Amino acid sequence: MTEHQPSATQLPASPIAMSPFGAPASEPVPDFALDRPRDPEWYKRAVFYEVLVRGFQDANGDGTGDLRGLTSRMDYLQWLGIDCIWLLPIYESPLRDGGYDISDYMKVLPDYGTIGDFVELVEEAHKRGIRVIADLVMNHTSDQHPWFQASRNDPDGPFGDFYVWSDDPDKYADARIIFVDTETSNWTFDPVRGQYYWHRFFSHQPDLNFENPNVQDAMIEVLRFWLDLGIDGFRLDAVPYLYEREGTNCENLKETHEYLKRIRTEVDKLYPDRVLLAEANQWPADVVQYFGDEETGGNECHMAFHFPLMPRIFMAVRREQRYPISEILAQTPKIPAGCQWGIFLRNHDELTLEMVTDDERDYMYAEYAKDPQMKANIGIRRRLAALLDNDRNQLELFTALLLSLPGSPVMYYGDEIGMGDNIWLGDRDGVRTPMQWTPDRNGGFSSCDPQRLYLPPIMDPIYGYQSLNVEAQQRSPGSLLQWTRRMIEIRKRHPVFGLGAYEELTSSNPSVLAFVREYDARSALPRWGRREGGTAEGAGGREWEQPTPWEHDETDRILCVNNLSRFPQPVELDLRRFIGVTPVECMGGVTFPPIGELPYLLTLPGHGFYWFQLPPPREDLER
Ligand code: NOJ
Repeated sequence: MTEHQPSATQLPASPIAMSPFGAPASEPVPDFALDRPRDPEWYKRAVFYEVLVRGFQDANGDGTGDLRGLTSRMDYLQWLGIDCIWLLPIYESPLRDGGYDISDYMKVLPDYGTIGDFVELVEEAHKRGIRVIADLVMNHTSDQHPWFQASRNDPDGPFGDFYVWSDDPDKYADARIIFVDTETSNWTFDPVRGQYYWHRFFSHQPDLNFENPNVQDAMIEVLRFWLDLGIDGFRLDAVPYLYEREGTNCENLKETHEYLKRIRTEVDKLYPDRVLLAEANQWPADVVQYFGDEETGGNECHMAFHFPLMPRIFMAVRREQRYPISEILAQTPKIPAGCQWGIFLRNHDELTLEMVTDDERDYMYAEYAKDPQMKANIGIRRRLAALLDNDRNQLELFTALLLSLPGSPVMYYGDEIGMGDNIWLGDRDGVRTPMQWTPDRNGGFSSCDPQRLYLPPIMDPIYGYQSLNVEAQQRSPGSLLQWTRRMIEIRKRHPVFGLGAYEELTSSNPSVLAFVREYDARSALPRWGRREGGTAEGAGGREWEQPTPWEHDETDRILCVNNLSRFPQPVELDLRRFIGVTPVECMGGVTFPPIGELPYLLTLPGHGFYWFQLPPPREDLER
């Protein structure tokens, strides 16, 4: 690169005009061309990328990230290979809970831009084949929301019943407190109305009253508003808590499921390829309820996060034993055909330990939160790289697991470069610091005076932006960023990772987790079925010629072998089912010895892993 060329990570003058990553900047990707059908089940194959708009890129130099800034980084996201951006809340808000305290559902927070900026963001994403979903907080609003102000001031007015009010703060006593660091009750007294209001989270976040049909309708209007603007779906925040019932823990109630089915019906009617992703931090048996009825293929949310799996990945690797992962996956019920798990390692919150036993929680704190400052609520407020002591082998192993276990991976911004955290910032801000693009001022995130930044960037000698940034890692072929990009590319070459069945193999070594991802009869065909004669009918009754843009090779099979130990390990695998197959390692394309009758012997370096493609067997070796 000559000094006259723009640096790959400098903010382009016009956000869209140029593509510093060599990717075609404005060529529509087939999946979004108007004359071609779109895959209604795109979310099953997608790699998601969670973005804190506030922390990603500041386009106007005011110290806060914004939508135009994010749009200007779209080429980077395309280059990285992600399929869908998940935006943390962008709505008008006093920002006392990172925007999860909404004061107007139909406005963009002025710090982040305008509705026009949002539409442009979606258009620019779609041009690159990237979809955009956003958080939607249905359960509660900010206490600044005009609905709450009207409700507290005029109990008999049209909004009087929009929230859950009571004279008795002992009602619903079986509901747990979620933010144990800050709240002592789920009720707070409002001196204006002279009654208590219900809130499952901060006391400045009153819960909406979903018993009220007007609240139900108002929320559907909000959904439609954003769907009409082109959004590809929602992460439904805090979805288990919509309703309350005396004598229950006020979670996962049947009324909540009924309302979600109504939302799904509304979405399917007019917007067939949008996605609803449930944030339900619950045990697998309760979470699967959020997919809806099995017979329908799923009639609530298309996706749900698998919360219990996440801490067990951390546990399994630290214990050097596969059992925590094997057991939770064995306990995970089958999900309806049209549904998909969302799996993740880290996000914008604390690493939650609500879905582990007391002993497991103690273990996790002892191993991963050695300083009490690292704890928050019932969890650990640290980023991935910091949790893993910045150990490259572990970072690669964790990322490989994220990209190969059943579900669609959801990556957290900055983890692709191994960003660090700042445990001395308040609440969960330590994992929400500015994205590190370059070694320049404010890490290339903003041109503002450093004092003006919404949060200080990471500046320590290990994780500081001077050395750890996108630009440096793009120039270094062996960097974590380049490696992650390559892994995403491999995953996308094999849709079986998203669509295939998962079968764990018994291995001779408890430190080794081995599994096969393979199409089965159920997952090989799209849910709406193929017709004889080469046409298919999709959601909404559309028909099209084959091949569809999401055709894939149904004979594709991948064998994943992961060493959870820090030491080299041998393993013998019973692969007789694949006799005659010659495994091909996915990263380098190297052919391994063919599978025969004897146990298949592999040796793995500490925290090493393999992904092998298992092509159809060679006839001469077949029995
Ligand atoms: C879940 C979100 O992930 C978290 O950041 C937020 O504080 C709570 N919901 C309350 O809205």
